[in-house]
Amino acid sequence: MEIESITIHGGRGKDGTAEPVSEVTLRMGDIVSIVGPTGCGKTTLINDIELYAQLNTPSCRRVLINGERPPEELSWDPSRNPIALISQHTNFLSDMPVAQFLATHAAIRQSADRDHIVERTVSFANQLTGEPLILTNPMTELSGGQTRALLIADAVVIGNSPVILLDELENAGIHRTKALDLLRGYRKVFIFVTHDPRIALLSDYRIVMKQGAMQRVIMTEREERLVAEDIKKIDDLLLSLRQRIREGDRLSEEVVREHLQNLGYMPAA
Ligand SMILES: Nc1ncnc2c1ncn2[C@@H]1O[C@H](COP(=O)(O)OP(=O)(O)OP(=O)(O)O)[C@@H](O)[C@H]1O
Ligand SMILES: [Mg+2]
Repeated sequence: MEIESITIHGGRGKDGTAEPVSEVTLRMGDIVSIVGPTGCGKTTLINDIELYAQLNTPSCRRVLINGERPPEELSWDPSRNPIALISQHTNFLSDMPVAQFLATHAAIRQSADRDHIVERTVSFANQLTGEPLILTNPMTELSGGQTRALLIADAVVIGNSPVILLDELENAGIHRTKALDLLRGYRKVFIFVTHDPRIALLSDYRIVMKQGAMQRVIMTEREERLVAEDIKKIDDLLLSLRQRIREGDRLSEEVVREHLQNLGYMPAA
C-alpha cells in the first residue's frame, strides 16, 4: 500500500477530557518526534498508530491512512502492514540464528537478491553497535543494543516499511547519531519517541504530550535549527567522553578542558 499520510484524530487524555490537539497529519518523508515527561502517554500514542486505533483503545483516538480508515487486512497480515514498531522493551522469542532469521524474512518478503539484502541489513546493524553481530548466534543471545540494532536494520532494509516508529532510540545503547544519519537516507515517515533534544530538534516537528493527551505540535523553525547545531557539539563532546570510558581510558581535567575549549565553551586556563 502506498502511504501518503497518516492522520491522528485526537481522543481524550487520562482525565477523560478532549485532547487539545484534535487532529494531526503526518506526511510521507516527515520526521516527527513525540516528547513529554515519563508516563505522559508517548508509547500509548505510537501504539495507537501501530494498532490503527478506531475509538477502541483507552485514548479513543482514530488513525486514518491517506485520509481513510485503513483496511483490516493491514493489521492481520504482517507482510502487508506498512508500519513497523521498534518498541522500548524488545526481546526475541525465537532462538533462530541471526543469519537464518534474516534470510527467512527476506524470503517471506520475496526480496529480489536475498543474499545481498541480508548482507546490507547486517552491515546497517553493525554500524549501530559497538561490536558486530555474530551471524551464527541465536537471536535470544544478542545484547539489548544488538537486538534493537538488528530490528531497526531489519525493518528498514528487509521489511522496507514506509512508516517506522521508534520508541526511545537513545536508550538502546546504539550509535544514535549514526542511526539518524543512516535513517535520513531513506524516505519514510519516522516517528521517534524521545527524551533527547538532539533527536527532537532534528525532527521536522514534534508532538508534545502531557497527561495522556497531545498538547501541541511545534514546528522546528530556523532558530531551533541553529540551537540544534550547538546541542550537537555538546552532545558530541559527551559521546566522545563516553567512548573513551567505554574503551577503558581514564579521563583527566585536562582532556575535558581541552574538549570544552575546542567548542569555545571555556576560556583557556
Ligand atoms: N489517553 C490516555 N488515556 C488513558 N490512559 C492513558 C492515556 N495515555 C496514557 N495512558 C496510560 O498512562 C500510562 C503511561 O503511558 P505510557 O507508557 O504511554 O507513557 P510514556 O510517555 O511512554 O512513558 P515513558 O517515558 O516512561 O516511556 C499507561 O498505563 C497508559 O495506559
Ligand atoms: Mg514509553
